[in-house]
Amino acid sequence: MTGDIEDWWDRRSKDYQDECQIPVDIHYGPSSPNEDKLNLLGDVKGRAVLELGCGGAQCAVAFALRGAWVTAIDFSAEQLKFARKLALQHHVEIEFLQRDVKDLAPIPAASQDIVFSAFALMYVDDRPQAFREVWRVLKPNGVFVFSLDHPFFRKVDPQKLTIIESYHETGRAVDDLGELGQTVMYRYTIGDLHDALTQSGFVVQRVIEPDSRKRYPYDPWFGRWGVYIPKVLDMVPPTIIFKSVKPED
Ligand SMILES: C[S@@+](CC[C@H](N)C(=O)[O-])C[C@H]1O[C@@H](n2cnc3c(N)ncnc32)[C@H](O)[C@@H]1O
Repeated sequence: MTGDIEDWWDRRSKDYQDECQIPVDIHYGPSSPNEDKLNLLGDVKGRAVLELGCGGAQCAVAFALRGAWVTAIDFSAEQLKFARKLALQHHVEIEFLQRDVKDLAPIPAASQDIVFSAFALMYVDDRPQAFREVWRVLKPNGVFVFSLDHPFFRKVDPQKLTIIESYHETGRAVDDLGELGQTVMYRYTIGDLHDALTQSGFVVQRVIEPDSRKRYPYDPWFGRWGVYIPKVLDMVPPTIIFKSVKPED
């Protein structure tokens, strides 16, 4: 069941985009270097790139400005409204699709060079299904790079710096964001993500846990919501990034 997450993003989109003013850039999330520093994707010019959970499309637009052919998916109508406006402002053409990332039916098999996702896959109720779809749409040797919440980060109370629950508690959880309301996330361990990728046939090449004791330029989430605050970031990384490849048959 994902409807409540979609509704939450529809309600939250305007305030979120106003607050964060996320720059047009290929980013990976809070306290993380961007793609220019990590270089996980190489030159994207002329490549077919699919972004999952594109939100306001700051990454999708950055891909398009670098010469990629971009398709971007999100299930929130409000996020896509912002995204379409941003693409117009930057004079780039992006194919936007409003749908759940678990079902990529309009995307032909073996059509994409890169599938990219920043901070969206923690909301997906059936990640293994999403990974199987990513496998289907990637070309052989295609690259799948995604970032999401580091699972340790969600286990720490940011104010008290105490552990909230066992690392091994996984699955559906209601995330109470105080005045921002409640949303739902699907918890995982690092091993769960790795196993779901390899069971779909991917070869995992890198798992990156950016050092959150460092401060990175263009981090629009730094200091926000009493969560991405120095005392927590100095102890626990908020972001984890996986790079996988679909091997040739
Ligand atoms: C934290 S935002 C990240 C947006 C963008 N990737 C970025 O980095 O700025 C998460 C986005 O994922 C979208 N999303 C979450 N679950 C999804 C799903 N199952 N299918 C499609 N979009 C989803 C939400 O609507 C939201 O726009």
